[in-house]
Parts: sequence; structure tokens; C-alpha cells
Amino acid sequence: MEQNKPTCDVCGMAPVVSRWTKSAFVVSMSPVMQEVCKRAARFAVSLAPVVIYGETGTGKEVIARLIHQNSRRANQPFVAINVAALPTELLESELFGHGKGAFTGAASSRRGLMEEAASGTLFLDEIGEMALPIQAKLLRALQDGEIRRVGENQTFAVDLRIVCATHRDLAELVREGKFRQDLYFRLKVLTLTMPPLRDRKEDVLPLARTFLAEEAVVAQDFSNEAQQQLQNYAWPGNVRELQNAVRHGAALATGLWIEARDLPEELRQNQNRFRAEELSATDQQETWTLAEMERRHILRVMDLCQGNQAMAADKLGIARNTLWRKLRLYS
Ligand SMILES: Nc1ncnc2c1ncn2[C@@H]1O[C@H](COP(=O)(O)OP(=O)(O)OP(=O)(O)O)[C@@H](O)[C@H]1O
Ligand SMILES: [Mg+2]
Repeated sequence: MEQNKPTCDVCGMAPVVSRWTKSAFVVSMSPVMQEVCKRAARFAVSLAPVVIYGETGTGKEVIARLIHQNSRRANQPFVAINVAALPTELLESELFGHGKGAFTGAASSRRGLMEEAASGTLFLDEIGEMALPIQAKLLRALQDGEIRRVGENQTFAVDLRIVCATHRDLAELVREGKFRQDLYFRLKVLTLTMPPLRDRKEDVLPLARTFLAEEAVVAQDFSNEAQQQLQNYAWPGNVRELQNAVRHGAALATGLWIEARDLPEELRQNQNRFRAEELSATDQQETWTLAEMERRHILRVMDLCQGNQAMAADKLGIARNTLWRKLRLYS
């Protein structure tokens, strides 16, 4: 850890995380986020694995980086991988590496991300989506402190800190038989839940101003009406959605302020539009087509999930992009 970085009065950590090429300031003005940061600061001192829970876009990766960058491992690598983004075989070779000729196309041997992250932190995003065979392999690697590349016999010792994130309830996945109980107990030593943005309204404007400062535009702040809209919206996509809304506003603003009209349209819409639409249709129920039934059911679940697409896709048992495609057809 660099010694001369300014530290936060509340949690004692340096509140800056580096993401790719740039550094980002971590905003935590609300009491709930300050509690999260205080907890994260305690975790930074420990070497135990961490599980970070939270809805999409709440800043799970940001907090994982913050923990790493304020830990003794700060000068070692932080390696992140999204478990849900890769098919099982590819994930296995990404994580553990592979030997030459291990599979078609493996022309040379390659280090896996667990080797890349040696002495540092491995961040496993969306850990709940990990297939059972890889869970078994990960468990063995953590128990033995060593890994074996796919298609090789030799083992390597690795010293890693594992930080995981998920929007799912891992205990529930264990009950459903989708997540190994032994791995769950090994990983969930320290846990943290990122609060949704709707529960930390005090962070909305400071975050919005931080994101605006990152845009190379003339606009310097938000008009009163725009501020009202930012405060009143439920932010189902959390901080990421806010960041995108600010980019939208910055792109459209022509003066020194971002006006309400420059912000995305959904901030102005009645957030209960799905419910209103559903309640108005009662008499023709017997003759609904299957497609219409599906549409209504999806919109109802979206409403119950307050517009959170990840949560709704989960409840509907369909992929996020399938849901997104369907919603696009309905709009
Ligand atoms: N407290 C914060 N201060 C500043 N920026 C933040 C904060 N929280 C989140 N962000 C920004 O919001 C975006 C989303 O954060 P992040 O990727 O950490 O969320 P996530 O919970 O991992 O999302 P997902 O579930 O989709 O993977 C990022 O661009 C991040 O820099
Ligand atoms: Mg993430």
C-alpha cells in the first residue's frame, strides 16, 4: 500500500480504486455505505476469503478492489474473472491454465489466472454461476494450496486470497444442490452486502457529480429539477445505471447545467407503468394468447422486482439477455 495516499476519516482506507488505466474515487456519503466501508477496512487487514453480495451494479467489484488495495497484498496483482461469462471448459483453462496439447488448439502451455494472481487477490465475479465440476476443482486447489494446469500432471503451489461476488443467495443455491456446501463454507468466511442505491439516497448526487467530473464536457452540475429526478428514481440498475444516466445527460447538455430533459426518459416516467398496464386489463383474460400471457407475466415479475432485470431473469428462470430481448419487443 502506498503510504502517502489520503485516507478516509470514517473507515481509514484510501478511498481510490484503480480500474484498468484510470483511478476512480469511491463515493460513500451515506451511513449505510460508511458501514460497508468500515467493514471492508476490517476485511482488508484479514487474509480470509470474502463473499460480497448485492444486486447488479451496486459496486461489488469496486469494494473488492478497495479491500485488495488497502490490504497487505496491495502491491501484488488483483485479477478479476467473471465466472458467468465463460463456458465451463474455457473457464477451467482460464482459471487453472493448460498444458501444450491439452485440447485442440492448445499449441503451447499457458498460465491460468490463479497463477497470474499468485500472492495477490483473485476476484471471482458471479461465483454462484460456477459449474459443479469447476467448484470441485477450485475447492481442491484452495484446500491443497496448489493447482494443476489442464492436461498436465505437475502441480504448482499458489498463495491466493479469494474474493467472490454474487447477486444470488449462495445458501439457497446450496439447498438447491447447485453449489457445493463444502466450497460455500470455505468461501463465506467474511461476508459483505452492498446496499442497493435506492437505500442510500445520500450517495446519489455525490456519485452523479463524481461521474460528471469524469466527462469532458462543459456542464458542471445538475439543475434543481434534474437533481430531483435523480433523487426520485429507484435505480434498478444501481450505480452503473446512474453512471450511464450521467453520461446521457452530459452528452445532451448544452449549457453549464445538465437539465431534467437531458436525462434518460425512464427517469421521468411513472415507475409503476408496468402495474398500471396490467391492472387495466381484466376483462379479456380468457382469450389471451400464450404470447400475451407470457408478456403480462414477465411485466408483472419486472414490477415485483422493481425493474431489476437481473433479479427478474432469475425469478423467471431465463437468461438476462433473453429477458432484455423480450422487454425490448414490449416497449
Ligand atoms: N461507491 C462508488 N463510488 C464510485 N463509483 C462506483 C461506486 N460503486 C460503483 N461505482 C461504479 O459503478 C459501476 C458499477 O460498479 P461495479 O462494477 O463494481 O458493480 P457490480 O456490483 O460488480 O456490478 P455487476 O453485478 O453488474 O457485476 C462501475 O463503473 C463503478 O466504478
Ligand atoms: Mg461485477
